[in-house]
Amino acid sequence: PEASMWGGRFTEAPDERMWRYTASLSYDRRLWRHDVRASRAHARMLGRCGILRPEEADRIVAGLETLEDEIAARPELLDGPDEDVHSAVERLLHERIGPVALKLHTARSRNDQVATDLRLYAREACVLLDRAAASLQETLLDRAEQEAQTLLPGLTHLQPAQPVTLGHHLMAYVEMLFRDRQRLREAHGRASVLPLGAGALAGAAFALDRASVAAELGFHALCPNSLDAVSDRDFVLDVLYAAAVIMMHLSRLGEELVLWNHPAFGFVELPDRLATGSSMMPQKKNPDAAELMRGRAGRVAGHLVGLLMVLKGLPLAYNRDLQEDKEPLFDAVDQTVASLEMAAELMGSVRFRRDRMRQACTPDMLATELADYLARRGMPFREAHRIVGNVVQEAARRGVALTGLSPEDLRRHSPLFGNEVKERLTFEAALEARSLPGGTAPSAVRQAIAQARVRLREM
Ligand code: ARG
Repeated sequence: PEASMWGGRFTEAPDERMWRYTASLSYDRRLWRHDVRASRAHARMLGRCGILRPEEADRIVAGLETLEDEIAARPELLDGPDEDVHSAVERLLHERIGPVALKLHTARSRNDQVATDLRLYAREACVLLDRAAASLQETLLDRAEQEAQTLLPGLTHLQPAQPVTLGHHLMAYVEMLFRDRQRLREAHGRASVLPLGAGALAGAAFALDRASVAAELGFHALCPNSLDAVSDRDFVLDVLYAAAVIMMHLSRLGEELVLWNHPAFGFVELPDRLATGSSMMPQKKNPDAAELMRGRAGRVAGHLVGLLMVLKGLPLAYNRDLQEDKEPLFDAVDQTVASLEMAAELMGSVRFRRDRMRQACTPDMLATELADYLARRGMPFREAHRIVGNVVQEAARRGVALTGLSPEDLRRHSPLFGNEVKERLTFEAALEARSLPGGTAPSAVRQAIAQARVRLREM
């Protein structure tokens, strides 16, 4: 244990077991760059404000710059006896530039320091996630373009409902990802507020120029209340929520891949390199990657709920419980980036079996076309619905397909059925009829794809 940072009032060294229990260096070491960056901004400001002599500030800043290169080349430098990454960076700086390093912590606490470091990390994470989401969108758009007129049985309640196009189905995920990326941008904005200057809890007793630190770190505002600044982790929850929703979307995509991969569907075939086998059953080819997209959604949602539970009973201001914010955040970001990348790989290489999708479109999925036909001829839709329900019943009773009924058969249910009704009763006609914006007609899907490409470029 290295307790020199606060050891002055203690008469014995920290207990080894307590140290292992409380230290965070093993995982918060990934914040070292953010810590160095925030420390540099703090030291520069101390110099500008005359709290440190200019040459002192310069030596600290130069020392931090050298240290950054050193740690980048030899990350194991961080593996010391320190409590956390903030103590480790300060110790390393001290070893390199001597006693002047001890002035860096003037007007600062680890409480406002860690909140600042973590906000820098959270913003970076939002950018990483956004990029991975954008690249999955690109992949989906390319596939949607190829499948703009591919017939797919649309389902509700997992039951045959109406024909749609596969391109339209894929574009649904592109839309989810647009909203996901919007959420990431909002989380990024909310993380961009500066805690430094809050001190341990009451505000620093020096006339700091907080605004200049915020500007240097790219933050657009200052935390307005010092107590809130050091105890607020809403910005972590925001990232966790954004990640949990992305994962929920990927989980639905994963579930559909699993389902479509089942021989009863047979809508997709995975390349061998993206499937796994069984140790016992030689015939197996399993969609494990898609299953794990689904499974990890649970894990990431758990991180969101877990941190909410950590925070819910905390009195103001800083409490060590807050250290429990990091592992869930890091893991959520890692898992979500990896899942977005895996999803792009899967969706980029899956083979769509158009023949199987067409075979799975059953004639009864055109029942709505018959009802719409009557409604277009002036019949109240409710009545049309009831009449076509009877038609469906008759077809089932006679064991013929809905499309196997003749116009005469249909006219026994309503005189409004003309001979040309048969032209309406094709999957292609059903698709074409839905060419309004947001509809599944190939033309509407192509338009949606073109518009999505513009939005993607402009985002
Ligand atoms: N490792 C701590 C954390 O992550 C840093 C702040 C420690 N502050 C303190 N007063 N013990 O929250």
